[in-house]
Amino acid sequence: MLWIKAFHIIFMVTWMAGIFYLPRLFVYHAMAEDQVGKDRFKVMERKLFLGIMTPGMILTLISGMYLWLGYGFSGGWLHLKLILVATLIAYHFWCGTTIRLFRTDNNSRSHKFYRVVNELPVLVLVAIVILVVVKPF
Ligand code: HEM
Repeated sequence: MLWIKAFHIIFMVTWMAGIFYLPRLFVYHAMAEDQVGKDRFKVMERKLFLGIMTPGMILTLISGMYLWLGYGFSGGWLHLKLILVATLIAYHFWCGTTIRLFRTDNNSRSHKFYRVVNELPVLVLVAIVILVVVKPF
């Protein structure tokens, strides 16, 4: 069980690295004015999303389900955690649709918008870690 938990944490860190960095790329992409710069961001965003974030998400979810169902964890903390995980999954797919907007040069949102949106998953991660470690209920 400890091995699964260790890999669960490793996969989660991989996923969160992308969740935090991709909207930061959107900030700079929204500010870019030259086509060469924009095209470079497109490649970076696609590779980060498909090569790191999506595998990280899938492996986090599989290892989390294995811990949950395989070892019989239960409690209010787990239910709330699963709701928060669902918001992270929604955020992940929103990032995917935003990549498609940028790919066709159709982004109309400002860099300030992406700066604010970039902070939201930080709050969710803090709540999840407190829930799984402290288990307040
Ligand atoms: C389907 C999704 C997930 C399920 C079912 C799940 C389930 C679990 C379970 C049952 C544990 C063991 C808790 C314990 O040992 O007391 C655990 C540990 C942990 N999970 Fe998840 N998890 C999921 C996704 C995530 C996500 C998305 C994150 C972070 C963003 C996360 C962060 C952690 C952390 C940090 C631990 C280690 C807690 C400790 O030190 O014991 N999990 N998870």
